[in-house]
Amino acid sequence: MTNDAATAAKVDEETFAPTREPQVSPNRATNRPIIAPKLHHTTFTTLRLDEMVAWYERAVGLVPAFYGEEAAWLTNDEANHRIALLSPPGLKHPEDKSHSTGIHHTAFEFATFDQWLDNFIRLRNHGILPFLTLDHGITMSVYYQDPDGNGVEIQVDGFGDWADSKQWISSSLEFATNPIGTFFDPEKLVEAREQGLSFQEIHRRARAGEYVPDHVPEDIFLPQLY
Ligand SMILES: [Fe+2]
Repeated sequence: MTNDAATAAKVDEETFAPTREPQVSPNRATNRPIIAPKLHHTTFTTLRLDEMVAWYERAVGLVPAFYGEEAAWLTNDEANHRIALLSPPGLKHPEDKSHSTGIHHTAFEFATFDQWLDNFIRLRNHGILPFLTLDHGITMSVYYQDPDGNGVEIQVDGFGDWADSKQWISSSLEFATNPIGTFFDPEKLVEAREQGLSFQEIHRRARAGEYVPDHVPEDIFLPQLY
């Protein structure tokens, strides 16, 4: 037997095997990327470049990888930048940022409850206070405003484990019933920790409403700065 095409075709007729050349079937699963890219950075325009650079360093340890006259690129981890700030001529402040669509906040996560609460204390001692403090179940979160009024959430995972909190947000009737969560007074959390309560016990009590602040915000809109 030879390997030329005529011989191959004859063999196919005798065995009733398909004579068609093998076809490559294109993958039609194109609705989403096969491998999803990671979220990398967010870029804000600003009229307060220097204030913004200083605030993000103080709040979440972002430092400039490059700091120019009209822009800065900030990072606090292995990425080349996580927040970029652009300040070209011709910008103006938004008319009603609180009630405008767009980004409500970016979020940063501490690995442990103690790191998270210590950061609240550190910022409070610098006079930087959150405008929202919420136990979402998935996270305990304090929300600040940067000098331009953009929201910045600083959180700790409520389960200490992304797989568990992802499972909970996907399947919990508790979250579906109240996705915003329960307000807490962070100073009451500081007291609870000083009394020796564990993170999970504090988290449980916060969810139960034991640390509700004296003043509960009426909404979650960004406070109007200008
Ligand atoms: Fe968030």
